[in-house]
Amino acid sequence: MIPQSFIQDLLNRLDIVDVIERYVPLKKAGANYMACCPFHGEKTPSFSVSPTKQFYHCFGCGTHGTAISFVMEYQGLGFVEAVEELARSAGMTVPQEAVAEKQRSAQSADLAEVMLLATRYYRDELKRAPRAIEYLKQRGLSGEVAARFGIGYAPQGWQNLRDVFPDYEARSLVQAGLVIEGENGKRYDRFRDRIMFPIINPRGAVIGFGGRVLDQGEPKYLNSPETPLFEKGQELYGLYQARKSIREVDRVLVVEGYMDVVALAQHGIEYAVATLGTATTPVHVQKLLRQSDSIVFCFDGDAAGRKAAWRALENSLAQVADGKRLSFLFLPQGEDPDSYIRSAGKTAFEAMLGEALPLSQFLLRELTAQVDMQTQEGRAHLLQLARPLLSQVAAPALSLMLRKRLAELAGISQAELEELFQIKTAQKPRVLPKGRRNPPSLIRQIIQLLLVQPKLAQSAELEVLEGDGDEATLQALLDFLAAHPQLKDAAPVIEHFRGSLHEAKLRDAAAEIMQWEDRFAEGEIEEEFLGALAQLKWQGRQREIDALLGLARAQGLTESQKLRLQQLLLRGQE
Ligand code: UTP
Ligand code: MN
Repeated sequence: MIPQSFIQDLLNRLDIVDVIERYVPLKKAGANYMACCPFHGEKTPSFSVSPTKQFYHCFGCGTHGTAISFVMEYQGLGFVEAVEELARSAGMTVPQEAVAEKQRSAQSADLAEVMLLATRYYRDELKRAPRAIEYLKQRGLSGEVAARFGIGYAPQGWQNLRDVFPDYEARSLVQAGLVIEGENGKRYDRFRDRIMFPIINPRGAVIGFGGRVLDQGEPKYLNSPETPLFEKGQELYGLYQARKSIREVDRVLVVEGYMDVVALAQHGIEYAVATLGTATTPVHVQKLLRQSDSIVFCFDGDAAGRKAAWRALENSLAQVADGKRLSFLFLPQGEDPDSYIRSAGKTAFEAMLGEALPLSQFLLRELTAQVDMQTQEGRAHLLQLARPLLSQVAAPALSLMLRKRLAELAGISQAELEELFQIKTAQKPRVLPKGRRNPPSLIRQIIQLLLVQPKLAQSAELEVLEGDGDEATLQALLDFLAAHPQLKDAAPVIEHFRGSLHEAKLRDAAAEIMQWEDRFAEGEIEEEFLGALAQLKWQGRQREIDALLGLARAQGLTESQKLRLQQLLLRGQE
């Protein structure tokens, strides 16, 4: 856990304009800075960064957030990683609350250092190994591409790393998975006489290796074991190198092998990544969807490929949102992306990508292939197979399309299918009794004004707001600002509420105020705010009066209720 106070300090120290400028050139335009949005392809700039609000917003694709969100999105990092990255750039150290965590991160730093030294060593060894160079050449790789992927060579011999590390007996070498300790306590290098493919995390640190034999031999690929740095189901080979291209073409290609990624890059397809000898996991899909709206999974055309594709589909269903495109490409029998691109070339390969089967089609094709569609029983079986899959689909439009199509295929109506699956169609919004709620626009406006000028909260005297929608968000915001009177802009507020129920509302509000530039002069904001507050209070009072009058007519009032009504009516006259 990173302490909240540190996040506040960090945001205070940073300027979002500087942070974003490290990655994207910005141009001053009025009070804000503009650029072509780095998150979607565009020719005219609609990405706006506000130094006063410490917030960015793209009017084209709607993405928005703080300096922390930007680094998360742009670099594909998690929250903690992004904070660490920004802290480093600001010369701050992230305090760790628990000692255990401190040790773990010290240990990770240790391991990272070990991996770095090993990577350099293997790379240098490649230059001295004609046999390894010859192997790579014969597989069609140029020196540039080998360098792009940091490919190296682990020479023959059992204890070469003894010369690389001052202490071959250090625990960290075993922990990093580079050295194996035998039963007799004797140590030896894990990777011997293998082509080394470093696995690099989004921050550019080497966290593991895949080592391929040059000739025949088992296993063909030897991988690093799981270590504190490396979790297989989470990492994707080549993502670090592919990020730029993925963003440019807004597409990512998922393949099975190290060599596939490298060979594709050799032929100009730089947006490919590979899972690491595991099935595609939900974490993989999530990571990739953060970088791109379109994923193409590419598998061999054989039975194993179809099975792997199906696993990928199962693990994607819950992750897809409407607007994202997932599709499946099956290569001709006996081909893998490496062999195919070499014989067909980039143009033909990309043409084939365009023909990939959309997720919904792949799903229905596989299911209908498993049953006899000519019989009632077969079609009933189809429904039975589809049900658990459909229940995982979270994207409303995709789910609807699948239900429609499935009903058609089974020869029943959509309503019958939904009845059968007990799918509740989207609930109509609850209609609340008139006058019970504050008009949301007023509260939302107050929230927006508070984000423009957090110190306004000091002049807000409000009775505690009731209600669970915008009221609750405003109340939470006021409480937070009352406790943090020093805050000057929206960013620390948004970050404070990250992960809470209020997050989305506050972010939307912040995105909206980006369009307000010059709407109010300095002094007018406070006036506007006080006016809106007064209106809110008046409405609250009016509602209470109405409720009491209604009660009076229906059943009469208690003494204290009468008193309250009097007070309210009097205050109204003030
Ligand atoms: P493949 O057997 O399809 O190899 O394994 P490949 O990618 O075509 O490799 P080349 O072209 O012969 O060099 C696909 C992936 O499965 C994992 C690796 O991640 C590999 O890239 N794998 C395969 C292993 O981890 N260990 C193995 O022994 C084999
Ligand atoms: Mn291959």
